[in-house]
Amino acid sequence: MGESVNLFEIKGVYKCYQKKSKPKVYAVYNVDLNIKKGEVLGLVGESGCGKSTLAKILLKLEQPTMGQILFNGQDITDYSFHQMRKIRNRMQMVFQGNANAFNPHFTVEQIIGEPLNNYSNESKEEKEKKIVSMLEKVGLNKTYLTRYSHEMSGGQRQRIGIARALILHPEFVACDEAVSSIDYALKNQILTLLTDLKQQFGLTYLFISHDIAAVNKICDRVVVMYLGNIVEVIPNINNNAQHPYTKALLAATLIPNPKNRRKNTVLFREGEEIKIPDKGCVFQNRCIYTQEICKNEQPALKTQKEGHYIACHLCHHS
Ligand SMILES: Nc1ncnc2c1ncn2[C@@H]1O[C@H](COP(=O)(O)OP(=O)(O)OP(=O)(O)O)[C@@H](O)[C@H]1O
Ligand SMILES: [Mg+2]
Repeated sequence: MGESVNLFEIKGVYKCYQKKSKPKVYAVYNVDLNIKKGEVLGLVGESGCGKSTLAKILLKLEQPTMGQILFNGQDITDYSFHQMRKIRNRMQMVFQGNANAFNPHFTVEQIIGEPLNNYSNESKEEKEKKIVSMLEKVGLNKTYLTRYSHEMSGGQRQRIGIARALILHPEFVACDEAVSSIDYALKNQILTLLTDLKQQFGLTYLFISHDIAAVNKICDRVVVMYLGNIVEVIPNINNNAQHPYTKALLAATLIPNPKNRRKNTVLFREGEEIKIPDKGCVFQNRCIYTQEICKNEQPALKTQKEGHYIACHLCHHS
């Protein structure tokens, strides 16, 4: 196998949000991460752990508070809006819940066509042909061209979001909950589509999802985040996950009835306020194995095995 090349490299990235009179919130905390060209990198972790924020930082839709972002070896951390515009067509995002965020006055043709208008000088006919072909790729057809977003189901809108992100044939797509409100059969169809398009266009994806089965299906590697920190990077999340948080997350997700998930696990306590500890391991307050060292020293993300990294004082002894 040839040497892998990084499409993205992020180093020491922090994102801090501070609202007036409220304490600081670190949505992303000291994250180092490489995304290899051609891979599908999964990103999982419970709600609020910083997944969307991290994706937006990669695309510079959010500016990191600290740290560095390299795209194709180029440091884009301080790129201006104007400089980003020149490379924006190479990186796209399927936004979480974007189904509800489309311009209500736009037809499907306008929604999917907007990036084309911004980045290409093709004729109206050529653009329409591309839009119809992309619609077909996401399992819709040209009768949708004149529809407005309120005239479609959540799943249809989600597919419009995917079509829109792919229309410029970007190199990288961050898919933020791209299949979350789609039923099982269609979900599999969209996952297959994402895989086909990846092969066809040599794409790289960041795939954010609460759906572990979907993550397993299409990801080459999975990053697990907890309160802004990466706690584990693992080739296959169902195989040999070791961080106590990853294990708890898997246990929580595997409870069949979604309504019971939050109640039945140590992870999700209703109304519980989770504080980031001042020192030590970020997971110490909820971990069942916490020891003295966990309260005092923050564990570094260390190699467990080739391609498998864990930030836990206790895991490396096993
Ligand atoms: N614009 C913002 N202003 C202030 N706080 C924010 C902002 N965006 C995100 N946050 C906070 O940052 C943290 C991470 O949010 P983020 O949306 O990245 O989480 P997430 O992992 O994508 O969650 P979900 O799974 O629910 O989508 C949360 O505590 C959130 O409240
Ligand atoms: Mg999110």
